[in-house]
Amino acid sequence: MMTLLDVAAIKADFPIFEKKMRNDARLVYLDSGATSQKPNQVMAAEQYFYTHHNAAVHRGSHLLAEEASAAYEGARETVAAFLGAKNDDVIFTKSATESINLLAYSFSNTATGRFALGAGDEILLSEMEHHANLIPWQQLAKRTGATLKWFGVTPEGRLDLSTIDQLISERTKIVALTHQSNVLGTINPIEKISEAVRKVGAIFVLDACQSIPHFAVDVAELGVDFLAFSGHKILGPTGIGVLWGRADLLAAMEPFLFGGSMIETVTMESATWAPAPRKFEAGVPNMAQAVGLAAAIDYLNAIGMDKVHDHEVTLTKYALDGLRTIKGLTIIGPTDMASRGGVVSFALDGIHPHDGGQVLDQYGIAVRTGHHCAWPLMRKYGVSGTTRASFYIYNDLADIDALVEGIEATKKYFKVS
Ligand SMILES: Cc1ncc(COP(=O)(O)O)c(C=O)c1O
Repeated sequence: MMTLLDVAAIKADFPIFEKKMRNDARLVYLDSGATSQKPNQVMAAEQYFYTHHNAAVHRGSHLLAEEASAAYEGARETVAAFLGAKNDDVIFTKSATESINLLAYSFSNTATGRFALGAGDEILLSEMEHHANLIPWQQLAKRTGATLKWFGVTPEGRLDLSTIDQLISERTKIVALTHQSNVLGTINPIEKISEAVRKVGAIFVLDACQSIPHFAVDVAELGVDFLAFSGHKILGPTGIGVLWGRADLLAAMEPFLFGGSMIETVTMESATWAPAPRKFEAGVPNMAQAVGLAAAIDYLNAIGMDKVHDHEVTLTKYALDGLRTIKGLTIIGPTDMASRGGVVSFALDGIHPHDGGQVLDQYGIAVRTGHHCAWPLMRKYGVSGTTRASFYIYNDLADIDALVEGIEATKKYFKVS
């Protein structure tokens, strides 16, 4: 059964869809994996904050400071409820990239208990990680002498779990994995892996950038220790990200950034830290952006995350069926709907992704082309890059028809049969 949202009604909230693209074409936005478009409600929430409440949070005793703090902490409550988490376990950062770096730096700043890392210890990743969940760990390994290990990826685009017993051992101290691949669309079996991770006492970090915007995620059910995502991929503003962590780990963890707002006491020689989350939010935070993120979550909650997910399943299935009809097109990633989300990467025989992307652009179709910040994965599949279409609540079947027709037109343009 096809389950689709009322896309016309949703699009009416997103003014960018009124824009005419090249050649007067309508916008077919298939690049939400890179960043989502923003509804009026999110932009209005930010403007309302600046118009009515703007002041530095947690600093003044005047009315505006009180209102700004309430708005900012209210945003934290919204995020926490969305994740099934406690308020104090939600840290605002500027992005998922910053969330993961915060964690990696806090590891080396702490260096005791479960945060102690040295020669012989292992950090386990996978070959399908975005650079944001690879390079901070490479650097942590360099700083501490720990060794990087990784799950391979099968030809179908799944995590190769056949070696899990060798890869997760007493030496494993950190496991950092993506929930849903930004290239393949694969949704990884996190609950299953977390059982093995818990047995050896390692810390499990989840990059939820591509999952949180698309289906309901409950941190308690997943069994992970930390989770990171970016606001801009979930209808929210840029400049706001989230790091959720388990309370006991946050309490034991040293900060990454030091300065105002994160302290308890300060002398000329030393300082002590405020409890989490403030310990990890040095400086005046991105207040309006946090409020905008909460408005984005309210928007999605009003639709219902299960309906969001069903809509994307319908679109993705339709896209896979349509793309499969195109001669010379290879889908890179799972071709069935089991445990996969609304991201579809493909290669076209004889056409470089950047060239193909330029022709699609002539029809108003915005796709992502290139290595998608996942260079090791490109090497694995022997391609320099792919074309990626990614779907969200404002896409409909006509967008996918446009993509399929656009690819056929691209083939004609380059005289590829
Ligand atoms: C899976 C994944 N992780 C991390 C990131 C990094 O997100 P940001 O650039 O917003 O920090 C992205 C962005 O594309 C992503 O897709």
